[in-house]
Formats: sequence, structure tokens, C-alpha cells
Amino acid sequence: MPAGLFLSIEGIDGSGKSTQLELLTARLKREAVPYLLNREPGGSEVGNQIRQILLEPKNPVSPTAELLLYFANRAQNVDEQIRPALGEGKLVISDRYTDSTLAYQGSARNLGQGLVASLHAIACRGTEPTLTIYLRITPELSVKRLGQQKKDRLEAEGRAFHERVFEAYEALAHADSARIVVVDGDRKQTAIAEEIWRIVMDRWKQRD
Ligand code: ADP
Ligand code: TYD
Repeated sequence: MPAGLFLSIEGIDGSGKSTQLELLTARLKREAVPYLLNREPGGSEVGNQIRQILLEPKNPVSPTAELLLYFANRAQNVDEQIRPALGEGKLVISDRYTDSTLAYQGSARNLGQGLVASLHAIACRGTEPTLTIYLRITPELSVKRLGQQKKDRLEAEGRAFHERVFEAYEALAHADSARIVVVDGDRKQTAIAEEIWRIVMDRWKQRD
């Protein structure tokens, strides 16, 4: 059996990740490609409970508790979902993974990239995406798209916070261009979906 493949999709809030993952998974189903969709926060029963704690606007979660909760969620998903699916030769797609923690907690919350990297080693134990799609839109477009929608605890952070998240993603993409593929998210949904499909299938066909 060929090995599985681990991909992640990243981007600021409103960049179109959920929309694109719906289109991608519908096509994977039609083409009978075996896949697992993971989501963080969430992605498992325990993960969904952690998600509620993290995103409830009324919860006064401290920055360090927030960081540890994202990693607790990830550790659970790595053990319960991601590793078994890769072992079964599946295409695993994670809607956010440690790049999100580097951008939101490491940079925007200013907890530091070193601390995030140390926790990543403990929580993920070498389970790394070989390809990451960074769906790129500007913070201005994010504000326009999310408009008056009800915001979760992280989305409700101010403009400066979201600009730091954006700058962090830009720096990550620049520093690791071998893994992170930048996809312009400011286009028609169908054009973006076509490009993502091509990128994902190229890698899927090349897996060992
Ligand atoms: P994310 O999961 O990254 O937060 P969503 O897929 O939920 O983003 O999209 C955020 C909002 O932007 C939704 O209202 C969605 O309908 C809209 N949207 C998504 N993709 C596009 C696009 N390519 N062009 C215009 N609007 C989009
Ligand atoms: P998500 O459900 O992906 O929101 P959206 O669909 O709006 O992008 O993620 C919820 C929030 O959690 C989002 O604002 C980003 C944040 N987040 C972190 O701050 N750190 C992390 O490690 C992850 C995975 C998400």
C-alpha cells in the first residue's frame, strides 16, 4: 500500500479555507481518493470540547492556557486521527495546524516561535505536513468578508492583532517556500479550487 500524505491549509480568518475544503473534499469523494479531513481547533470529540473552550468569547482564557489548549487539541488529533489515517494510506488534510499557532500565539500573542516549536515537538512528535497551502488574502479583505458576522474569541481581536497574524504568515511562507505554497485567495472560488486541486493531485501522485 502506498504511504499516506499529510497536507495542511492555512490563512487568516476569512481567507476561504472552509469554502475551499468543501469543494476539495467533494471532488476527492467523486474521484474516490481516500481522505481524512482534520480541523483545528476541533477535529475529534475531545478536540471539539477544547474548541468550545477556546472560541467562546466569554471565556477569559490566558495566553499561555490558550497556547497549551491548541497543542492539547493537536496532540489528541495526531494520536487519534492523523497517524492512523496516514497508516491506512489516506490523504490527510488539516484545516490549520502548527503554522496557525506560530502565527496567532507565537507572533500575534507574542509568546515566541521557540516556545511554539518546543511544544510542537512534544505534541506532534514528527507528524509534519509535507505540503501546506497558504490561502493568501489581505487583512483588509478579511474584514470586508467577515463584515457583521458573529465573531469567535480570536476573530474578535482587534485590527493590529490580525495584521500581526498576516505578517507572520507572510514570513513563514518566505522562510519555508519548499513546503508552503502560496495561493492567491482573492479570486473566484472556482479558479482557486482548480489551482488547489492541481497542487494536491501533483503531490498525491508523487507520494512514495
Ligand atoms: P475561512 O474558513 O478561511 O475563515 P470561509 O471559507 O469561511 O473562510 O470564507 C469566509 C467568507 O468569505 C464566507 O462568507 C465565504 O462565503 C466568503 N468567501 C470565501 N471564498 C471567497 C472568494 N474566493 N471570493 C469571495 N468571497 C469568498
Ligand atoms: P477556525 O475555526 O479555523 O476559524 P476560521 O474558519 O474563522 O478561520 O479557527 C478558529 C480560530 O482559532 C481562528 O481565529 C484561528 C485560531 N487559531 C489559533 O489562534 N491558533 C491555532 O493553533 C489554531 C489551530 C487556530
